[in-house]
Amino acid sequence: MENLQDKVAVITGAGSGIGEGIARAVAAAGMRVVVADIDEGKAQAVAADIGSAAIAARVDVSDLASVEALRDAALDAFGAVHLVCNNAGVWIGAMMAEADIKDWRYLIDVNLYGVVHGVKTFLPLLIEQGEGHIVNTASMGGLISGPPEGLYTTTKFAVVGLSEALLMEVADKGVGVSVLCPGLVDTNLISQSFAVRADEYDPGINHEQPAPDTASGIAPLAVGERVVDAVRENGFYIITHDDYRDIIAMRHDSILSALDEHTARYGSTSGREVS
Ligand SMILES: NC(=O)c1ccc[n+]([C@@H]2O[C@H](COP(=O)([O-])OP(=O)(O)OC[C@H]3O[C@@H](n4cnc5c(N)ncnc54)[C@H](O)[C@@H]3O)[C@@H](O)[C@H]2O)c1
Repeated sequence: MENLQDKVAVITGAGSGIGEGIARAVAAAGMRVVVADIDEGKAQAVAADIGSAAIAARVDVSDLASVEALRDAALDAFGAVHLVCNNAGVWIGAMMAEADIKDWRYLIDVNLYGVVHGVKTFLPLLIEQGEGHIVNTASMGGLISGPPEGLYTTTKFAVVGLSEALLMEVADKGVGVSVLCPGLVDTNLISQSFAVRADEYDPGINHEQPAPDTASGIAPLAVGERVVDAVRENGFYIITHDDYRDIIAMRHDSILSALDEHTARYGSTSGREVS
C-alpha cells in the first residue's frame, strides 16, 4: 500500500511500546489512526498526543466480540480501515515444568487468539475493498526459541506460521501481509503483562524467571518506522535486529541436516502436505 495519506490504521496494544511507536509513525506518514488498548487511559493519552488524526478505543484482543466492536468503532469514526496491526501481546517467563495452565492460557489467548481475532474480524473488510495490509506482531521469539520463553515462543511461532499462510492466501486479493519480528525493544512489556492480567488467568506461577532487559532495547518509534516502510513496500518479514542471524542459521541448518539424514538413511520419500 504505497500511498498512506488519509488512510486508516487500527493498532492494538497502541497505548504503550511498539504499538505506540507504530501509531506515531503511521500518523507521521499521514494516516488516521485508532489507538486501541485494553488500558484505555494509556490509549487516550497516546491518541491525545498524536492529535486530531487519532482516536482512542478500548479493546481486549482475547475477546472476539471486543475486536468486532473495535472494527465497528473504527468504521463509525473514519468510514474505512486499511491497515490493521495485530500487535497487543504479553510475556511470561516460565519453565514448562513449572508453568500453570493459566499461564499458558493467558499467553495463548492474548498473543495468538488476539491475532486470530484481528484477522477474522478485519480480513473480510480488506478483501472486499481490494486494498489493505495486515501486520502481525510476532517476535524474534517466533523464529528461534529457548527457555524460559517456551510459552511465549509457542505463541509467537504460531503467529509467524499464521502470517506465512495468510500471505499466500491473500496474494491475489490486493491485501498485503507482514510479520514483525523484533529483538529487544524498550517498552513496558514485562510490567504491563502483569498489570493487565485478568483475574481468570491468576494466580499463575511465581514469575521468578529472569525477564529480558527490554530497557536495553531499541526505541519503539524506530520499530514503527520500519513497519511503515514494510507496509509501503509490501515487505513480509520485518526484522529490526540482525544479531540473531547465527542462531536462525543454526536452526535452519539443523532442519536441513535432518532432511539429509532422512534421505541418506531411508531414501527419498514424498507426500506433500503443503505445496
Ligand atoms: N519489547 C520487546 O522487546 C518485544 C520484542 C519482540 C516482540 N514484542 C511484542 O511486541 C508487542 C507489543 O509489546 P511491547 O513490547 O510494546 O509491550 P507494552 O506492554 O509496552 O505494549 C503492549 C500493549 O498491549 C496492551 N495489551 C495487553 N493485553 C492486551 C489485550 N488483551 N488487549 C488489548 N491490549 C492489550 C498493553 O496494555 C500494552 O499497552 C507484543 O506482541 C510483544 O510480544 C516485544
